[in-house]
Amino acid sequence: MSGSMTRCDRTPAWQALQAQYAATGRSLDLREAFAADPRRFADFSQDAPHVFADLSKNLVDTPTQGLLLDLARQCGLEQHRDAMFAGENINRTENRAVMHFLLRNPPPAHDGKGDAAPEKIADELRQVHETLDAMLAYAEQVRQDPAITDIVNIGIGGSDLGPQMAVLALDEFRLPGKRLHFVSNIDGQELAAVLAQRRPENTLFLIASKTFSTIETMTNAASAKHWFEAQGGTHIARHFAALTTNVAAARDFGISTTFGFWDWVGGRYSLWSAIGLPLAIAIGAQGFREFLGGAHAMDNHFRSAPLAQNLPVRLGLLDVWYRNFHGFTSRSIAPYSSALRRLPAYLQQLEMESNGKRVDLDGQALPFATAPVLWGEPGTNGQHAYFQMLHQGTDVVPVEFVAVKRAARSLPGHHSKLLANVLAQAQALMQGKKDAGGHQHFPGNRPSTLLLLEALTPASLGALIALQEHRVFVSGAIWGINSFDQWGVELGKVLAKDLESRLDSGDAAGLDGSTAGLLQRLRAS
Ligand code: F6P
Repeated sequence: MSGSMTRCDRTPAWQALQAQYAATGRSLDLREAFAADPRRFADFSQDAPHVFADLSKNLVDTPTQGLLLDLARQCGLEQHRDAMFAGENINRTENRAVMHFLLRNPPPAHDGKGDAAPEKIADELRQVHETLDAMLAYAEQVRQDPAITDIVNIGIGGSDLGPQMAVLALDEFRLPGKRLHFVSNIDGQELAAVLAQRRPENTLFLIASKTFSTIETMTNAASAKHWFEAQGGTHIARHFAALTTNVAAARDFGISTTFGFWDWVGGRYSLWSAIGLPLAIAIGAQGFREFLGGAHAMDNHFRSAPLAQNLPVRLGLLDVWYRNFHGFTSRSIAPYSSALRRLPAYLQQLEMESNGKRVDLDGQALPFATAPVLWGEPGTNGQHAYFQMLHQGTDVVPVEFVAVKRAARSLPGHHSKLLANVLAQAQALMQGKKDAGGHQHFPGNRPSTLLLLEALTPASLGALIALQEHRVFVSGAIWGINSFDQWGVELGKVLAKDLESRLDSGDAAGLDGSTAGLLQRLRAS
């Protein structure tokens, strides 16, 4: 384990939590807890920048909360957090710093005062702002160019999910006349469907890839370029831009307009970098700066609020309590906002690519569980699909509701119904309903969190996303894993390359029986 970190299962607090779970934690009844404590809502809610969290419907009481905070301290969470903010190479398997927070740090003050970054990273901060200024100037140029009506982002994973989620979330702020499209899948149907409606002279392609080597993105980018030229498009420099750390590869591909970022920005943490260009085009430079500002406010909260009043810490510790003591295997994300409909997909990558790990920082197999499965759909749609299981199924699934107090662009009578439904679902999960017959019995005591935004704005979205990044950091730190690598995606990439040539040649030598059989079937005429 790294310097100041202690793996959770080697701390006294871990043993104390096991005892606490066996004694009272397992049987905590939320209905009784509320009846016994009129202050429960106040004590188990938390204000953070742009986000209010009701944590009171979670299966936690004051003694458990105290032990979870002990666990955080004994694991060295604060030291690990400070190491990240100091620019240390906490991504040990790739020997890299983890500094996406720097992308939303205000510029270095000219007088040397103000919101200063540690000296070690001051130079990076200057580069961040040079690139940000250039990218936002470009975004404004595109916004003012009436010929460009369609922006097609080609990227996958972190180069797709973040910008796509944010552009949809902030559609109310989008400049009319600019349509944004997102192509990620290597299935050619996706790109073909977008291209069928486009004209080269009105289209700007953004090729978004940290590495500029991801097979899906390179294949789609090559096809887009081929289409552009075949349709008589000229002036690649005007119609293609690359968002990448690999400027040389973009140049080899034939793209001269590039916006860079750095190896210390993980793909799933890159929305704040040049990868955010689609969002900047949609909402403008000022809106994008507000988005960064909201995230920065959450960074400051995470860095400075005492652990007991620190929302990312409280959420991350609850995640550990549920996963390792209650044994809950998943968390359902329920944004009661159609604009946030891609939030579950975005959070899936953030949580599961970061914390879906089975070894600690020293490469030792872990004797406890890590990332839960994240899944969900926007409310109220989910209610008419899988909420049956959440209320009456055999598994307990903590639900994370996200609600927005003030509606954007709603129609009369809709928003109060939406809010009534989110309250009703959280209430029903907790309260349950007695029925002797069985089929209409709701056991209740099912936990949920409600994250409430005053309004869905660039700043509040930035804060919400930074909150999620930091809560993933917290549980990853407690588990003693590296939340910032993703080796688990590599094997499939290598095998797919091999199988692509085998599909061509028919060579099945050395393959397992199933893969060989499928290969033959796929090749048969
Ligand atoms: O394969 C996983 C992954 O590396 C993600 O971590 C990343 O967000 C995605 O692929 C896309 O990578 P790139 O931006 O380098 O194309």
